[in-house]
Amino acid sequence: MTQISHQRLLIIDFGSQVTQLIARRLRELNVYCEIHPYQNVDAAFLTGFAPQAVVLSGGPASVLDDGSPRAPDAVFTLGVPVLGICYGQQVMMTQLGGQVERGNGTAEFGRAYVTPEDASLPLLDGWFSEGREQVWMSHGDHVSELAPGFEVFGTSPNAPFAITADPDRHFYAVQFHPEVHHTPGGKQFYANFVKLAGFTGDWTMGAYREQMIEEIREQVGEKKVICGLSGGVDSSVAAILIHEAIGDQLTCVFVDHGLLRKNEADEVVSMFRDHYNIQLIHADEEDLFLNALEGVSDPEVKRKTIGKLFIDVFQKHADSIDGAEFLAQGTLYPDVIESVSFSGGPSVTIKSHHNVGGLPEKMGLKLVEPLRELFKDEVRALGHELGLPDHFIGRHPFPGPGLAIRCPGEITRDKLAILREADAVYLDQIRKHGLYDEIWQAFVAILPVRTVGVMGDGRTYDYACALRAVTSVDGMTADYYPFSHEFLGETATRIINEVPGINRVTYDITSKPPGTIEWE
Ligand code: XMP
Repeated sequence: MTQISHQRLLIIDFGSQVTQLIARRLRELNVYCEIHPYQNVDAAFLTGFAPQAVVLSGGPASVLDDGSPRAPDAVFTLGVPVLGICYGQQVMMTQLGGQVERGNGTAEFGRAYVTPEDASLPLLDGWFSEGREQVWMSHGDHVSELAPGFEVFGTSPNAPFAITADPDRHFYAVQFHPEVHHTPGGKQFYANFVKLAGFTGDWTMGAYREQMIEEIREQVGEKKVICGLSGGVDSSVAAILIHEAIGDQLTCVFVDHGLLRKNEADEVVSMFRDHYNIQLIHADEEDLFLNALEGVSDPEVKRKTIGKLFIDVFQKHADSIDGAEFLAQGTLYPDVIESVSFSGGPSVTIKSHHNVGGLPEKMGLKLVEPLRELFKDEVRALGHELGLPDHFIGRHPFPGPGLAIRCPGEITRDKLAILREADAVYLDQIRKHGLYDEIWQAFVAILPVRTVGVMGDGRTYDYACALRAVTSVDGMTADYYPFSHEFLGETATRIINEVPGINRVTYDITSKPPGTIEWE
């Protein structure tokens, strides 16, 4: 656990699909919180963590089942406000002397409306101005008898105990999920909760920056750190923060595999080396990668070839840095959250596309991960705080294997050069039309087919390309972006006029699933 000086809230996770959203809501309110699986929380942990409030999450179990999860009893003797949500409510009632019963046809899933019994509870400030509040329910069991000291403050048709509280002890228990989007008053609800728990909103990016700088100095001491820089937002923010903390003890290694977009390598090098004065090894290994990829058209072989070479090159350069003991990574909070497993111990979800994954063990390096407590949008806020330009912070994701997976079939230098130009025109169009920030990711794929066209009086026989643009929240699912026909027509004309080698442009309207965002 990190040593931190600000006020903190503990979320005890019983395995709900939406526990992370509780953390999102709280952090939006500038409240520092951590999610810990219920198995890991005991009285000693609570004393060490010293939360100023506790939230008990929802979860898939039934409190009526033998061996189902419980909160440590010490949660209820800490003297701090406790909020139980859904399964968390049922846990509270069970442990504090109430009753829960099985649904038997009264389960509620999805939208429901809560009406007040007594709206004077401070937790409900700002609620019920229109008589009722839309909330999102997802439960089978329900509370049938309140624990001593609790009263009902709101009900829904299938949840007579939708909002309950023991105001004297500051115990609050609700049947619905205030953290989800479909509970529109959820943000206000959490704001009320943290206000009555005395939070002042001291979790700011400025405070985080200062704290992390101190922690990095303490962790690293006089030793050296290496950082693989991809040009993406996460590794860039991590590198700049670490550089602020330890200056020239940090060396960044930028592996340029020759599969980057137009001007990308130059931009990364000039920003980090010239603007931020960070020691940077620019490993220009285009020949190595492109030679190895010659004749390869199978997507998995491409990925594996690139992944292996990437690690080799990174390791070679890292080995040249005398006395490096630490490897910096831009790991984010969602990558490290332990999810609760009911069959075994907590399991850890790790980013599947980690370019330097496996390196720390192989090289015997310790990790420095200054972003491991942040969500993606918090990393952007931190980048902003560190002075990174907005256009850099808001960049679309770019895959580790780069343009290789946007060039189905065999990769050639010619095709890559054409692809770079077409991609640059397409992104220029998107920016000019003010659409960049509405789109999760946009790129061109050059297709392994040539088609006949006519330009001027001549026949052409050039490549076709596909434009891709998707909306998404996390890259797991995606939909194609609904460009206007006018935009598409204008873009096709520009690409064909400005990029020799392409004479046909198509637009990919496949969603994910069943497609993927990248073409390979
Ligand atoms: P797919 O194509 O699987 O992509 O729908 C989902 C998201 O992941 C990115 N992506 C990668 N990122 N290394 C990465 O760092 C990779 O190997 C990789 N493959 C796909 C892709 O750009 C999209 O944002």
